[in-house]
Amino acid sequence: MAEVVIVPSAAEGGSIPAAAIAALVTAKPDAVLGLATGSTPLTTWQALAGRGLDLSRVRGFALDEYVGLPAGHPESYRSVITREVVEPLGLTPALVRVPGDDGLPLEGAGDRYESDIHAAGGIDLQILGIGRTGHIGFNEPGSSLASLTRVKTLTEQTRIDNARFFDSVDDVPVHCITQGLGTILRARHLVLLAFGAGKAAAIAAALEGPVSASTPGSVVQLHPRVTVVVDEDAAADL
Ligand code: GLP
Repeated sequence: MAEVVIVPSAAEGGSIPAAAIAALVTAKPDAVLGLATGSTPLTTWQALAGRGLDLSRVRGFALDEYVGLPAGHPESYRSVITREVVEPLGLTPALVRVPGDDGLPLEGAGDRYESDIHAAGGIDLQILGIGRTGHIGFNEPGSSLASLTRVKTLTEQTRIDNARFFDSVDDVPVHCITQGLGTILRARHLVLLAFGAGKAAAIAAALEGPVSASTPGSVVQLHPRVTVVVDEDAAADL
């Protein structure tokens, strides 16, 4: 059963996951975090930075990455994670991984990422946003509930939603590599964040709808330890 916390604003919402991460890292300085990109977790990173913790031993595994962007592209999730998480929080760059970043062929990259997460001892706390299509990571509707890290095709809706970060929707990659829903379920604690009215339908479907591949976020109902942090707009349909 998920614990649902309704907060007045995204700004205040960031303090809850930040406190959870701070408690984890205080107990386990080399904790393994699952990192999400997107605008939603930004207040979490800000609140965590404000705590001034030593996070230099923390290990990180990003949820997902575009396929096909040139190395160093500012909108690659490697660049975003470096800019928004690694640098402001003082994480050690070599300890933070993004799917497909091992310099080996894309074929097999998903399996290798799974092995690397396993070798790190598994993800202790996974931060999750949710897309308007209900996707978590880049697991679009139709993703197998047991899926592991693999290459996927983005929906047109997600490419349109993410076009704001690019010059045009045509510049948004068509493919991505993402942790699977099964990968996400293996994390020990899931923290799902959503702010704004645009997320209300996706949050209601994820938390109260049937568990279904049509609603990737609904897999959180299968996990024993989930914290959901939403503002009143995102909670409107609950
Ligand atoms: C992106 C990411 C997801 C993210 C979602 C929501 O496509 N791949 O990991 O949760 O969309 O993004 P935002 O938080 O900006 O609304």
